[in-house]
Amino acid sequence: MSTSTPPDPMPPATSSPNRLPLLLACIVLIAAFQYPLLINWVSSRGDNATAGEITSAVGQRGKALAALAGFSRYKQRSQNTIHEKRSKFNKLPWAQKKLTNYPHKLSLALQTVEENSLLAKDIVTFGLEAYNISAYELRAYMKMNRTAGDHSSVVQALKHYVRDWAAGGAHERDAVFPQILKAMEDRGGRVLVPGAGLGRLAYELAAQGAEVTANEFSVYVSMAYQYMMSLNGSNPRAEAGMYKFHPNVNWWSHQRDTAGLLKGVEVPDILPDEKVLKRMKMVDGDFVTMFLPQESEAFDTVVTLFFIDTARNIVAYLETIHKLLKPGGWWINLGPLLYGTNPSIELGLDEVLEVTKKLGFELLPIGEEWGTETFPDDERWAGKVRGTLAGYSWDPDNLSRNAYQAQGWIAKKL
Ligand SMILES: *[C@@H]1O[C@H](CO)[C@@H](O)[C@H](O)[C@H]1NC(C)=O
Ligand SMILES: *[C@@H]1O[C@H](CO)[C@@H](O)[C@H](O)[C@H]1NC(C)=O
Ligand SMILES: *[C@@H]1O[C@H](CO)[C@@H](O)[C@H](O)[C@H]1NC(C)=O
Ligand SMILES: *[C@@H]1O[C@H](CO)[C@@H](O)[C@H](O)[C@H]1NC(C)=O
Ligand SMILES: *[C@@H]1O[C@H](CO)[C@@H](O)[C@H](O)[C@H]1NC(C)=O
Repeated sequence: MSTSTPPDPMPPATSSPNRLPLLLACIVLIAAFQYPLLINWVSSRGDNATAGEITSAVGQRGKALAALAGFSRYKQRSQNTIHEKRSKFNKLPWAQKKLTNYPHKLSLALQTVEENSLLAKDIVTFGLEAYNISAYELRAYMKMNRTAGDHSSVVQALKHYVRDWAAGGAHERDAVFPQILKAMEDRGGRVLVPGAGLGRLAYELAAQGAEVTANEFSVYVSMAYQYMMSLNGSNPRAEAGMYKFHPNVNWWSHQRDTAGLLKGVEVPDILPDEKVLKRMKMVDGDFVTMFLPQESEAFDTVVTLFFIDTARNIVAYLETIHKLLKPGGWWINLGPLLYGTNPSIELGLDEVLEVTKKLGFELLPIGEEWGTETFPDDERWAGKVRGTLAGYSWDPDNLSRNAYQAQGWIAKKL
């Protein structure tokens, strides 16, 4: 019998058995050092935030890490999509390929992604500081989880810059802002804007003198909002039109021409005024849990724009709005009923209005600036509920149109 030594399980050059425990010890040490950072996220609630401050829910730090990973991976993931388009194109027969100038378009698209990624990169730099996360921790997190960060949430959040903070989105804002701002003129007081998005409506309300609390569930959007607010007059880097953002390069359907696909929009159209920002604060997290009970009957007005249908449970939203308002306070609504993922109840407009009444609201008459009457012949709602055509992602060059008959009302808490 021969007593030959068994072959080495691994080639000796790559890993000596002595170094493995050391390596493991290092990993454990790093993990032990990082873990307190991950759990040491003190929750604070809406009432503790002061002007200009951000307040976040428990667990928000983990979500912030995922959002930061998403923004960090924006460029690579968007470019990968274009590389995939190229490799699919390359598989076509040569005779078909030579009929188009597609490869040139793909190269141009790669360049616009490069430009877009400047905005994504700046959001990451800002977000690391705002959420007190080190670049090192983010890198470690991204290494640990190669799929972390939702690309479509990133793309959606970036697209909101156009709707809220670009001259190119003015036509969308002009369809839904003026009637709300008119109703709020001279009203002042404390205003809550849940589902605030990138905060343009909240900002315009604060500019009219209200004390505004913006609330946003998506950390992706909230981070983009906070970055936008940091581009105020006291930021020496900030300049109107400092970014050229190409909103269409992630959507290839409905494009009239290459120029439309590659179109750049200047962001932002204006820099937020610091005096106005002093009247605003952002509360990150779920509208239903973030404010109650500590802020019950604390608000003069709740403004919901394209918001109530984002609820899993729309009745819980309506209840929350009612509890947050002072007696005599107003709930101003404008938006569609496009129910999202897995709702527990899907009410029609008539049912929403019935629930509103049963909760203790009374609808006020509203003027024609809110659009045409939705129930002209129903005495309960005639003159009090109106609909207006509101575009969404409505680009004049787009070969498709998406719009809602957005429903508006003002409900007073009895
Ligand atoms: C938050 O506010 C509550 C009172 O509303 C107070 O008791 C608590 O100490 C505050 N927390 C922090 C972290 O400031
Ligand atoms: C940020 O994190 C560091 C490290 O955990 C901590 O020492 C510091 O107090 C934190 N700063 C804030 C503002 O939370
Ligand atoms: C990694 O990220 C994905 C996508 O964000 C998430 O669904 C998954 O739970 C994460 N995995 C770990 C181990 O954190
Ligand atoms: C205004 O911008 C400066 C510089 O970016 C920032 O430190 C400050 O927090 C911003 N103000 C508000 C209210 O966001
Ligand atoms: C074009 O409009 C459709 C809705 O009709 C929308 O889904 C799509 O995102 C728009 N495309 C761009 C590039 O804005």
